[in-house]
Amino acid sequence: LQIHSAEFVTSAVAPEGYPPGDHPEVAFAGRSNVGKSSLINCLLGRKKLVRTSRTPGRTQTLNFFLINESFYFVDLPGYGYAKVPQKIREQWGPMIERYLTTRRRLSGVVHIMDLRHPPTTDDLLLWNWLREMGIPAVPVLTKADKVSRGNRARHLRDASQRLGIEPREAVVFSAVTREGWQALWERLMPWIGY
Ligand code: GTP
Ligand code: MG
Repeated sequence: LQIHSAEFVTSAVAPEGYPPGDHPEVAFAGRSNVGKSSLINCLLGRKKLVRTSRTPGRTQTLNFFLINESFYFVDLPGYGYAKVPQKIREQWGPMIERYLTTRRRLSGVVHIMDLRHPPTTDDLLLWNWLREMGIPAVPVLTKADKVSRGNRARHLRDASQRLGIEPREAVVFSAVTREGWQALWERLMPWIGY
């Protein structure tokens, strides 16, 4: 897939602020600091399109990016970071739920988790909720470069078991080595009409 344009469109916290829903859309969700923004940059081959940070909880709005003038990527704020003020944490649920349940052209969610650790309670909450709502989701286990070859299979198996999926349903990914790039695009193409 050739990416010839990728541009930030807008940030929003509520439907009034969403851009016109005239293109298929893919949302990226996951725990704070798990590597959502890095994954988007990696997929698009743009180093700095989306701001990344060592400090968790930086992204606190829905950030819309228009790609190839034909589909949207949406970087969602991360969940599960204790240091984010209580007030903001309370807003996360309704803000995300509203977006995920009302956005007409949302094709699916890339649910990003960390291959190094088993899915957290928050990860499982979102994963199971997406399933209950019937929202298509691809589980991505990122930071694979941080897990030794010898431990890969075990980490993948444990995560899959917790998520209630077959290991082959998950995409193992690394924004550093670009492992999983092709596999993830292959899952996203039907969602965005390619
Ligand atoms: P918030 O927006 O704060 O929720 O974070 P985020 O999920 O967007 O994470 P971000 O992409 O900003 O990355 C967080 C940190 O993890 C940064 O220091 C990244 O460089 C690092 N990181 C992200 N992906 C990978 C990866 O695949 N491998 C390694 N080794 N580090 C990564
Ligand atoms: Mg981010």
